[in-house]
Amino acid sequence: MADHLVVVIDGPAGAGKSTVAKMAAKRLGFAFMDTGAMYRALTVKALRAKLNLEDEQALIKLAEVTHIDLVNEAGKPLKVTLDGEDVSETIRSTDVTNNTFYIARTPGVRHVMLEWQRRMGREQSMVGDGRDLGTVVFPDAAYKFYLDADFDIRCQRRIDELKAKGQPVDEQALKADLAERDHKDFTRKAGPLKKADDAIIIDSTSMSIDEVVDLIVRRVQSKA
Ligand code: DC
Repeated sequence: MADHLVVVIDGPAGAGKSTVAKMAAKRLGFAFMDTGAMYRALTVKALRAKLNLEDEQALIKLAEVTHIDLVNEAGKPLKVTLDGEDVSETIRSTDVTNNTFYIARTPGVRHVMLEWQRRMGREQSMVGDGRDLGTVVFPDAAYKFYLDADFDIRCQRRIDELKAKGQPVDEQALKADLAERDHKDFTRKAGPLKKADDAIIIDSTSMSIDEVVDLIVRRVQSKA
């Protein structure tokens, strides 16, 4: 329905997109669509099935018979389900993080994801975060933002996040991983990370999360 508003936030890993999208969605009363979580959930299934992750046809077939849901319930964190199972925690493991690029680079899988994401966008107003939402999935989105931050700041935020959770951090390895993920995101042929021409760039290097959320919410409310 045309009266559903779609707000998209694309940008590189570690820029704070998910946190910002989640908070903006809450303030606007919209659903939150974490598209990275969908790629991650399919990765969980592929890893469990011990599929050859280089086998694109096998990955596409898997996507076609998989049901991934993003469950938005008032006052609760987003629940990610894979064929009905809650995988919200499982999808954040390092193993999943490091293998999701196989899933994300496969055009046929991206096509299946695109259909799921567009359907969600038709059903409700939402704030989505990802890589190709403004360019490929929702080229007509009402509001497009591209959230960026300096590489070192993105690394530092990830380090702080892990430390806050009490997890051990190998800072050098984390930096190398993030550089690698940037490279893969920017250079893959299907759905690369790219700023849409009409997206508003937000450089969050010296902004707090609240400032970024305020900027997005005010922009949407001023024109809604
Ligand atoms: O945002 P994230 O770190 O949860 O994303 C996980 C992976 O999924 C990452 O490798 C990039 C990929 N991704 C994508 O290709 N397209 C999207 N719209 C969202 C995520």
